[in-house]
Amino acid sequence: MELVHGNFSQFLKEKDGTFDMILLDLGVSSPQLDEAARGFSFYQDGPLDMRMNQGQNVTAEVLINTLSEDDLVRVFKEYGEIFRPFRVVRAIVHDRKTKAFKTTQELAGLIERVDGWHRKGHHPATQYFMALRLAVNQELENLKEALPRLIDALNPGGRLAVISFHSLEDRIVKWVFKESELGEQIHKR
Ligand SMILES: C[S@@+](CC[C@H](N)C(=O)[O-])C[C@H]1O[C@@H](n2cnc3c(N)ncnc32)[C@H](O)[C@@H]1O
Repeated sequence: MELVHGNFSQFLKEKDGTFDMILLDLGVSSPQLDEAARGFSFYQDGPLDMRMNQGQNVTAEVLINTLSEDDLVRVFKEYGEIFRPFRVVRAIVHDRKTKAFKTTQELAGLIERVDGWHRKGHHPATQYFMALRLAVNQELENLKEALPRLIDALNPGGRLAVISFHSLEDRIVKWVFKESELGEQIHKR
């Protein structure tokens, strides 16, 4: 077994070969969520980081403190599927003028104050944090780039399986599978 550290969207650029089985297990891992210092969770206080690859420069702190109001709205709408992020974004843009956001609890606290709780057990920061995570790690873009190439790298009769917990990822996977002439979906759902 060979472990390769890298972005799976670049994997086949650096590595030749074909495969009988490819399994993609998408999203964030429990150890990443559990470690406050990784900054993925709004339940623990930690740096506003959210990088899956800690070698990259862009963190959630950079995005929250530098993106324009319009771009923040776009990130929360597109990646978080948040219908009306406007009040939260205005509050972020207002508050960061006096003090830059540095921690997960600072941001989660603001979202809780501005948006309040709508569903028991569903923290109001959930979608915002997930949107930020997807933006920081370009997860959807990496998936769109990697999937067609991974399909091409399958041996005849080979299988590609993707584990996804996110509707936006799900949509991309289903679309690429449907569009691919090379293979057939073995499970409609
Ligand atoms: C759901 S977890 C995998 C959990 C693992 N299968 C396990 O059972 O412990 C997904 C992992 O994929 C990594 N990841 C997400 N996007 C990636 C990408 N484009 N390239 C490489 N790794 C990525 C994340 O950092 C995370 O650790």
